[in-house]
Amino acid sequence: MIKIAPSILSADFAHLGRDIEQIKSADYIHVDVMDGFFVPNISIGIPVVQSIRKITDLPLDVHLMIDRPVRYIEAFAKAGADILTIHVEADKPEEISRALAAIKNAGVSASLSIKPKTSAEALLPWIELLDMVLVMTVEPGFGGQAFMMDQLPKIRMVRKMIDSKNPLCELEVDGGIDCSTGKLAAEDGANVLVAGSAVYGADDIPKRIAELRACAP
Ligand code: DX5
Ligand code: ZN
Repeated sequence: MIKIAPSILSADFAHLGRDIEQIKSADYIHVDVMDGFFVPNISIGIPVVQSIRKITDLPLDVHLMIDRPVRYIEAFAKAGADILTIHVEADKPEEISRALAAIKNAGVSASLSIKPKTSAEALLPWIELLDMVLVMTVEPGFGGQAFMMDQLPKIRMVRKMIDSKNPLCELEVDGGIDCSTGKLAAEDGANVLVAGSAVYGADDIPKRIAELRACAP
């Protein structure tokens, strides 16, 4: 069964409580944290995660698009993250190992993400440790971009790696997901679909979440 993780980057931050209530039929709440350095945009951080934690029991899927994420693992874990995703490009390999160990030590699910230009092989040193892999299907930084079709072979390759080395690991895709691109990603092995504009751009948000779930195989 496909899981849907609406990205609140496309929510109305002046009405965030209302916009979180609208996605209560989702599986995860995807929270995009951007530092203006790892990506050319700045979004939200620890106090917002803390506030969201108080108003929902859904798992918080926190996507850290920040440089040297090891510095902030403890703070995001304390704030209430259930899944913490860091980027393999965000630090040296030994610091990525430290950050993933810190996530596990905090009792949080550990996830590693690769940007579109990063190969699937970059995940290999850590694949056995991971609870989730996030394959970016746009350049991270902004919502509303077009899905990059050239990432589909990589999704297939990551699915093969997961099946042979760590079958319980989830495979999430993020960027430009709607019903048609979500179907393609799911056919190639993704089991968690992040969707920002496709969810929050809908007139009937619960209906859109159900549609996204149904369009995948
Ligand atoms: C992009 C973020 C995404 C973004 C997706 O850097 O990681 O989570 O919110 O937005 P859509 O679904 O509009 O591409
Ligand atoms: Zn994201």
